[in-house]
Amino acid sequence: MEIKKARGFNTVAVHGGELKIPEFGNVTTPVFENSTFVYPNYNQSAYLDHTSNLPYIYSRWGNPTLQALELKFAELENTKYALSFSSGMSAIVSTVLSICRKGDRILSISDLYGQTASFFERDAREIGIDSDFVSVENLNSGNFSANGYSMIYVESITNPTLKVSDIVKTAKIAGETDTPVVVDATFASPYNQKPLDLGASVSIHSGTKYLAGHSDIILGMMAAKEGFFQPIHEKRKVLGGTPDALQAFLAARGLKTLGLRMQKHNRNAMEIFKFLKQERKVRKVFYPGDPDSPFYSTAQKNLSGYGGMISFELHGGIEAARLFIKHLSIPSAAPSLGGVESLITLPVDTSHSSLLPEKRRSMGIEDGLVRFSTGIEDHEDLIADMQKALEALT
Ligand SMILES: Cc1ncc(COP(=O)(O)O)c(C=O)c1O
Repeated sequence: MEIKKARGFNTVAVHGGELKIPEFGNVTTPVFENSTFVYPNYNQSAYLDHTSNLPYIYSRWGNPTLQALELKFAELENTKYALSFSSGMSAIVSTVLSICRKGDRILSISDLYGQTASFFERDAREIGIDSDFVSVENLNSGNFSANGYSMIYVESITNPTLKVSDIVKTAKIAGETDTPVVVDATFASPYNQKPLDLGASVSIHSGTKYLAGHSDIILGMMAAKEGFFQPIHEKRKVLGGTPDALQAFLAARGLKTLGLRMQKHNRNAMEIFKFLKQERKVRKVFYPGDPDSPFYSTAQKNLSGYGGMISFELHGGIEAARLFIKHLSIPSAAPSLGGVESLITLPVDTSHSSLLPEKRRSMGIEDGLVRFSTGIEDHEDLIADMQKALEALT
């Protein structure tokens, strides 16, 4: 029998990083609600803060419950180095400011998550860090040069039109100038994509979504190659975006079922895609697993699953979309995603409401575009619910 070297995804998700204290025999990591720790501790314990290899001192710097989550996540991303944050935005800002200085330039994509775009276009600019943006299509065709940039920042699957960035190709081009590639892989999750294995230097997640998975906490996670870890940790210390121990505990509990949940999210979105694709009241479907999608071959190269997100337009535009949502009984109309419960939203009313209509249209976001985050309910029920809501449209 061949001996398996690396542990499987679900084994790591359950057992990775767990903090077991022999004196107590605890099976799961405890919640260390402590602001501070005895220091210097003359009876020094065997547990050292992985951010410093020193005993714990103060929870904004490091905390045992956070460490358990961070080590579990690091192993899921195939690295030793990971950190948790109080939000996805905190992970993004801490990472960018650890890599870029005044006078540096960032190359990014034009379909960024709204607040990330605001950070690049306004806040980073105010401190002398400028950004240029290319379309995902141009990024994927290799139609850019990394020369002169301190960082390339991409999202692996974009919101809400679900374009797939070619991380493999981007990292190859960036490698010619030693430019680090930072990937927001929130929509993919480490079950469907491990950006560091594809050549990225840092992988970032809004852990609020698939990682925690239950629509109950706000959290950020970052996994990195060795040289990037300490500078990002320094920024977390200074900017103060360290999560609370209870937040970290809930995230680690969610992570244990990430593999099981993602299998069901992947399956449900695929079944719903097949249903929507043949429905005559549906005008257009956006889904990375659609063989007719211009991003299909990139998805196959960069993802091991197509994820749980699907967007679509109905004939009848925004009025039809509003009526459709009103007639659904299973999904809640809410703007987040990645939880066990299905959520549905109109980006024009939520995530993209602050953009001018022309800007939205240039991004391929029609007013009637519907974004659906498939939960882990039975897909037969979700489809029956959608069918009923479609029948309500004239
Ligand atoms: C792709 C992406 N990145 C980052 C964020 C920000 O994460 P958070 O809300 O946890 O700060 C979001 C939030 O929706 C997101 O969708």
